[in-house]
Amino acid sequence: MWLSLKHSSLVQLFFSAYETVVATPTYSPIHPPSYPLAVRNPYLSLWLPGDQVEDLPTATPQFWAGQDLSLGILARVDGTTYKLFGVPGSVGSAVEASVNNATYSSTHSIFGLTAGSVTFTLDFFSPISPSNYLRQSLPFSYVTVSTSSSQAHDIQIYSDIDESWTGQSGSTVSQLTTSGNLSLFQLSVAGAATYSETNLSQALWGETVLAAVSDSAETVSSASGAATTVRNSFASSGSLSGNTSTFVAEDVVALAYDLGQTSSASINFAIGYVREQAINYLGNARTGYYRATYQDTASAVSFFFNDYSAAYSESLTFDASLEQKATASAGTNYSDILTLTPRQAFGGTELTIPDDTLDTSDVMAFLKEISSDGNVNTLDVIFPAFPIFYVVAPEYIRLLLEPVLQYTESGAWTQPFAIHDIGTHYPNATGHDDQVEEDMPVEESGNIILLAYAYITATSNYDWGSKYQSIFQKYADYLSSEGLDEAVQLATNDCCGALANQTNLAIKAAIALNAYGTLFNDTSYSNTGISFATELYTNGLALDSSKTHFTLQYGTDVEFANDTDYAVVFNIYPDTIFGLATFPSAAFSMLADYYPTIQGQAGVPLDSRVDWSSTFWTSWAAAASPGDNDSTRTLFINNIWAFLTNGLNTAPFSDRWYAVPGSGGLIGGSGDLIGGYDRWRNRPVVGGHFAILALNGPGQF
Ligand SMILES: *[C@@H]1O[C@H](CO)[C@@H](O)[C@H](O)[C@H]1NC(C)=O
Ligand SMILES: *[C@@H]1O[C@H](CO)[C@@H](O)[C@H](O)[C@H]1NC(C)=O
Ligand SMILES: *[C@@H]1O[C@H](CO)[C@@H](O)[C@H](O)[C@H]1NC(C)=O
Ligand SMILES: *[C@@H]1O[C@H](CO)[C@@H](O)[C@H](O)[C@H]1NC(C)=O
Ligand SMILES: *[C@@H]1O[C@H](CO)[C@@H](O)[C@H](O)[C@H]1NC(C)=O
Ligand SMILES: *[C@@H]1O[C@H](CO)[C@@H](O)[C@H](O)[C@H]1NC(C)=O
Ligand SMILES: *[C@@H]1O[C@H](CO)[C@@H](O)[C@H](O)[C@H]1NC(C)=O
Ligand SMILES: *[C@@H]1O[C@H](CO)[C@@H](O)[C@H](O)[C@H]1NC(C)=O
Ligand SMILES: *[C@@H]1O[C@H](CO)[C@@H](O)[C@H](O)[C@H]1NC(C)=O
Ligand SMILES: *[C@@H]1O[C@H](CO)[C@@H](O)[C@H](O)[C@H]1NC(C)=O
Repeated sequence: MWLSLKHSSLVQLFFSAYETVVATPTYSPIHPPSYPLAVRNPYLSLWLPGDQVEDLPTATPQFWAGQDLSLGILARVDGTTYKLFGVPGSVGSAVEASVNNATYSSTHSIFGLTAGSVTFTLDFFSPISPSNYLRQSLPFSYVTVSTSSSQAHDIQIYSDIDESWTGQSGSTVSQLTTSGNLSLFQLSVAGAATYSETNLSQALWGETVLAAVSDSAETVSSASGAATTVRNSFASSGSLSGNTSTFVAEDVVALAYDLGQTSSASINFAIGYVREQAINYLGNARTGYYRATYQDTASAVSFFFNDYSAAYSESLTFDASLEQKATASAGTNYSDILTLTPRQAFGGTELTIPDDTLDTSDVMAFLKEISSDGNVNTLDVIFPAFPIFYVVAPEYIRLLLEPVLQYTESGAWTQPFAIHDIGTHYPNATGHDDQVEEDMPVEESGNIILLAYAYITATSNYDWGSKYQSIFQKYADYLSSEGLDEAVQLATNDCCGALANQTNLAIKAAIALNAYGTLFNDTSYSNTGISFATELYTNGLALDSSKTHFTLQYGTDVEFANDTDYAVVFNIYPDTIFGLATFPSAAFSMLADYYPTIQGQAGVPLDSRVDWSSTFWTSWAAAASPGDNDSTRTLFINNIWAFLTNGLNTAPFSDRWYAVPGSGGLIGGSGDLIGGYDRWRNRPVVGGHFAILALNGPGQF
């Protein structure tokens, strides 16, 4: 007894001594798998794996797909150079600053460091401003470096990037523009194929931007050349030579601010990726909304700098409000999840206008099916993501549907069911005139009606609904005839294969029919939807024999209709959020009681075929579980939170993890690590985490 007490206090002594020597950063609100740094669209997506925070001065940030992208930051204090961020190579006698902490909010990832007697804060800020199309569409993020010390010091701050940003080694050209107080580097590849990507999803065309702006108290200098030469010249003199005559493979472009003597100051770099021809929509180029006002990159970047204080103050309001609303609706674990979500969800999208007319009355949003297959405006990606748009900016739902509906209205898509996506690979939104795509007939027909319902009821834009009513009616007719006696087909979780009579799909068909009937005052559709629900639930067609849960499939000739098979029926959530009462309330209570019984070691597998769970679909199931008994909601939220914080992955917010051992014939593998990341990173589907908050109504910001 005495010995073990003595032993444990020795251990404590050892650890406290150790901690004073090697400081461990503190993390708030949690230590996530990866920090969004500059995440604004599918091609501006810079992340820092969470396990690199403690080595921040020598870290290597990454593109969302995992390849390194360089971004180095140095500071010079009274002639001593400190590595603050992203400089793995040696720089003269530079020392590494020590990392104090890391924090994130919805729009900022912030790191605190100490360099001698000065503290530095690195604030990576990607605005989210979906109602301000100009601000939202700017393809730049802020990197703000602030200093603070008790006395004034002589301070210079430096940043550089290299051609990893163009994804094409050896063929990058650099251009420096200085105009007024702006210093702007653009890296591009001459003759790069428009609308093309590297095999790791970076844009081949367009240009990377690194920029700085000086005010009257600062000067900015610039250089390009070999990384060691340029960094060493900053380290030795505190400024850059202005020589930008060469840029070859492995070189950097660099900008440095001289702040002079200061005890407190703050400067901004802009990092970005510009594609003038952003999207190919049916053969017509579309460009960022901002180009209606700022046609050249220099003027757009200048505006971006001038907009900083307005964007910053908007972000503080948004961040605080989201944290408060999330916590009020489902606790701090929910807030930790929701605040990590928005940059990734909006970062899968872009706001565009026609590149020729720059007509701002013709706005369309495009969304990339990031990580899975690159499809454009996939309906079964917009659908799971819709809660974030519904909560933050319902108009965004219409902007995402416009390209789909305008293409459908043109008559080029002739199938009786809704299209899956409007292009096989982003940014080519070139449709499927050949009618060849990944068909998900009931899935997408239900999705487009439910998305229209979400938008129209959130905004009361019934005129827009009338404009496209014939399209919605066609798909409602399809669901009426094909939604209950369902042919073998794929649903959103396509990896699991095609099945007939999938309960989750039939539930979607029932609710979408009721939604259509409610929206357009046609009770015959509502009655059909309610009759489906009566069959599936009340008459027990899709229930197990003791009526404890929905089975994966229903019918006599199907494989997965036995008592132990199940699906997490996320598709019932629209009935809750829209208050349609297609299903009786007992169906929701039944589910809320059932889900805890299939909780595995690290979560509820999405259906009885698989060993993995889903962050966004279980968020939908959580939201559909009645709030008057929130233990099921809490179970789902805590599962996601555990996955996010268990330290087993470093991916940009992955939405799929292993919940149970992958044995016994489950889709998965026997080596699957429980709690580990299965696949998918940086997908906009995480917008579905907002499902619970969305129950409080549309347009909350
Ligand atoms: C992080 O550390 C800095 C000092 O580097 C300090 O000023 C700041 O308050 C800390 N932030 C948090 C969130 O702990
Ligand atoms: C887009 O289409 C163009 C022209 O067909 C093609 O060269 C390019 O590779 C496509 N882009 C992607 C990402 O598939
Ligand atoms: C992607 O392209 C790079 C460079 O062209 C090449 O080295 C690599 O093998 C390719 N990877 C795949 C998965 O095709
Ligand atoms: C840079 O110059 C522009 C145009 O003269 C001005 O509006 C802006 O305030 C200046 N920016 C700074 C940081 O001084
Ligand atoms: C600029 O740098 C290049 C390559 O490092 C060098 O050849 C050239 O002499 C330099 N020019 C000036 C004016 O120093
Ligand atoms: C549906 O009917 C209600 C009242 O009966 C009416 O206010 C609404 O405008 C109608 N909606 C449509 C789309 O016709
Ligand atoms: C699917 O369900 C319908 C309606 O209950 C039924 O008529 C049909 O036989 C089922 N299909 C299969 C393959 O079991
Ligand atoms: C019951 O479901 C399992 C999968 O969970 C399946 O392998 C089996 O074939 C089903 N049994 C019947 C009788 O359909
Ligand atoms: C809430 O749900 C849990 C799990 O299904 C159940 O055990 C409990 O009895 C329910 N509580 C109430 C008050 O309904
Ligand atoms: C958050 O979730 C974890 C389980 O993942 C749980 O242990 C913890 O109590 C939850 N925290 C709060 C504040 O609910």
